[in-house]
Amino acid sequence: MAVQQIDIKEPLLKRIGSLADEGGIRTFVVGGYVRDLLLGKTVTDIDIVAVGNGMEFGKSVARMMGRSNLVLFENFGTAMLQLEDEAGMPGLKLEFVGARKESYNKSSRKPLVEVGTLEDDLARRDFTVNAIAVSLNAADFGTVIDPFHGQGALEERVLRTPLDPGVTFDDDPLRIMRAFRFASQLDFVIAPSVFQAAQSMGERLKIVSQERISDEFLKILSSPKPSVGLKLMFDAGVIKVVFPEVALLAGVDQRRDYHHKDVFLHTLKVLDNISEGTTNVWLRMAALLHDIAKPKTKAFKEGIGWTFHGHEELGARMVKPIFRRMKLPLEHVGYVEKLVRLHLRPMALVDGEVTDSAVRRLLFDAGEDIDDLMTLCRSDITSKNPRLVEQVRTNYDLVVQKMQEVEEKDHWRTWQPPVKGEEIMAVCGLQPSKMVGILKSAITEAILDGVIPNEHDAALEYLLSVKEDVMGGAP
Ligand code: CTP
Repeated sequence: MAVQQIDIKEPLLKRIGSLADEGGIRTFVVGGYVRDLLLGKTVTDIDIVAVGNGMEFGKSVARMMGRSNLVLFENFGTAMLQLEDEAGMPGLKLEFVGARKESYNKSSRKPLVEVGTLEDDLARRDFTVNAIAVSLNAADFGTVIDPFHGQGALEERVLRTPLDPGVTFDDDPLRIMRAFRFASQLDFVIAPSVFQAAQSMGERLKIVSQERISDEFLKILSSPKPSVGLKLMFDAGVIKVVFPEVALLAGVDQRRDYHHKDVFLHTLKVLDNISEGTTNVWLRMAALLHDIAKPKTKAFKEGIGWTFHGHEELGARMVKPIFRRMKLPLEHVGYVEKLVRLHLRPMALVDGEVTDSAVRRLLFDAGEDIDDLMTLCRSDITSKNPRLVEQVRTNYDLVVQKMQEVEEKDHWRTWQPPVKGEEIMAVCGLQPSKMVGILKSAITEAILDGVIPNEHDAALEYLLSVKEDVMGGAP
């Protein structure tokens, strides 16, 4: 039920209200803070609207608190004050903005917009659930101002826009992505007229900066069930604008008796599976990309059916260009590449014979990411046949058990060759050179193949026995 009054517990907001009273300014909390408060969540980002000059008001709040770390965004007419963590609680982040008549767009390059009333300001926000204000002035502290019935929308769990959706999206097309993000994050539905506008205006996302789009995309990926947001993006035709490689996963081809399953739907299932057990957004990204090269490698083989040979390797090579284009942090490329490249390997063991040497190789190649690889692999079991799933999971558990045994013995995750580079150089009379690496690899291969045990003396003996051949065979 819609409330007239909210019990705001944050004492700082009362002080801010009194300060506004002294200056004769009307001030309110708005946006995500109010929305999440009404949804019973704890929030640390607080958006404060002052009817007047938001930056100046931010400055007086910083003065009142004896703070010198207020950051001003002159172009946007906003100010931000980050407070420190306290007693294990994350610090509050206060953002000040003046009420505006024009669109509220934090990243607009447009200079300061025209000063407006609170109602003007709320009308230019993205969704009605984000356009609820609560007064901070002492006379009506905690009073809710909700001209667009945002509280009703919160109860119905629906995303509507305060104005005609075409106008709201035209003000800032990023809001199309935000609609999918909030739907996925909060498990809300998008009102039909809003969805239609998103559908017809999706191409407008091309004028929005990649950083802002990727930020929303990662929030979709981080949501409890990312398939909700991705499916909406797909249904609205937005995914081909934002993430064309993922759009290409959709579709099924039928040839005689053979059909291949829709890789997009399969990927969504894998993504939801993995999201039940991890909040690591890069592991989720690996799940999204694990079959990304299937469309490129798809071939029909007579008598066999559809094949996707090499999709794991080609897929791994697609990761970096995707990260570059989407301006995602490149430090995670190696991890995602590795998981995409290796995603079939554990299953190859599950389906085949679990030899010590194959297990060792997998542990060696995956290194410290082995657990994440196994999580991805388990999430990749999506057959609709429960008996088959059961059987594959049982085999999978056997592989995991075997891996534990092998790992406990030789600690492959953090494995170092038992004969170090210096010793190789001394024994073989070499200077630092490529040959040292070649000899080291020869030892590693012999250990992985089980030719020699993972021990120093055996490795040294092996080195002595092969060094002539290896060095003599070098170009
Ligand atoms: N806003 C908007 N249009 C945008 C971005 C933001 O109208 N393109 C408004 C909304 O009222 C929003 C508020 O600015 O609630 C704050 O924006 P932001 O911090 O990005 O989102 P929150 O709603 O606070 O949600 P979250 O913290 O989960 O990102």
